[in-house]
Amino acid sequence: MNPIFSALPTTIFETMSRLAREHQAVNLGQGFPDDPGPEDVRRKAAEAVIDGWNQYPPMMGLPELRQATATHFRHWQGLELDPEAEVMITSGATEAIAGALMAVVSPGDEVVLFEPMYDAYLPLVRRAGGVPKFVTLTPPHFGLSEEALAQAFSPKTKAVLFNNPLNPTATNFSAADLDLLASFCVRHDAVAICDDVWEHVVFDGHRHQPLMSRPGMRERTVKISSAGKIFSLTGWKVGMVMAAPELMRVLAKAHQYITFTTPPNLQAAVAYGLGKEDAYFEGMRADFQRSRDRFAGGLSELGFSVLPSAGTYFLNVDIGPLGEGDDVAFCQRLVAEHGVAAIPVSAFYAEGAVRNVVRFCFAKHDATLDRALERLAALRVKG
Ligand SMILES: Cc1ncc(COP(=O)(O)O)c(C=O)c1O
Repeated sequence: MNPIFSALPTTIFETMSRLAREHQAVNLGQGFPDDPGPEDVRRKAAEAVIDGWNQYPPMMGLPELRQATATHFRHWQGLELDPEAEVMITSGATEAIAGALMAVVSPGDEVVLFEPMYDAYLPLVRRAGGVPKFVTLTPPHFGLSEEALAQAFSPKTKAVLFNNPLNPTATNFSAADLDLLASFCVRHDAVAICDDVWEHVVFDGHRHQPLMSRPGMRERTVKISSAGKIFSLTGWKVGMVMAAPELMRVLAKAHQYITFTTPPNLQAAVAYGLGKEDAYFEGMRADFQRSRDRFAGGLSELGFSVLPSAGTYFLNVDIGPLGEGDDVAFCQRLVAEHGVAAIPVSAFYAEGAVRNVVRFCFAKHDATLDRALERLAALRVKG
């Protein structure tokens, strides 16, 4: 067996979800919303299953979805993309990330990763033969610094894998951070593989700024989006990939031999959804922001130290002030004794782990969040 995968332990998400079931806990661990997603988009998918095409769609994606993707990102992010040469549809962002790494990285190339990071990144980089170089981000701001980037980049740097907004820290990187990273990519002639799946889930009136639009980045960026996150339909696994034609030609080869296509009915529904009026996207954001504020407010009232959440479905708590220095032990106790499942943020680090931060998913009904807060109140009394 290949040791990169055979040596991997059970993921913390599976472990915490199993413990949550065993202890009948309120599960704020795994990141999926309670809400079933927009009904009109789901109806389009159902109609497309019954009345539409159910055989292989074009390898690059349905033309209507590629066009809708280009139109959507011109409208929301000011990007000018040629739907025929610069847009491809994949089976989720995860396939797009795996394909991009296979297409860009050769054995021995260095890939800059920012930890905490999404759990799929490191094994996929290693399996592509890449040598990971870590930039360690720390609370409360999890921002970039010139020194940290200078240590991670080298003449062997081939790519960076950059997630913005960042899961799990709920950070929305500043314009200064983006410019700094862009300058390093340009100087080292590196490709930026941008995991932008949370781009629409940003709060407090902010708009996502794609790294692709920074100076010098248009030709060297692979932008990856996910309908699963845009429409709160995490099971759909429809990804959108955007890149300049020269990059796209090779990305398309990787996609051709991984999945080749993505269910056409879901693609048709996503094409419809991307064209929805602004009010849908603003409303979705406002709903999540309201949940964030409800949960953050409740936690603060209980005396918890809540870190800022600028985007994603997540917010983090610093457990240091509770006298806790081991996030894994804390989460195990939290689920077993208090019936609330959360995720220890150290699980997202490969080295130099931060051990005092715990992640909660707030994309839940008010009643679920309130039940969690009631249980957390008991913890505070006992603690
Ligand atoms: C940062 C990040 N990237 C990728 C994904 C997966 O996206 P998809 O379901 O489209 O594969 C997730 C899902 O949680 C994520 O948080």
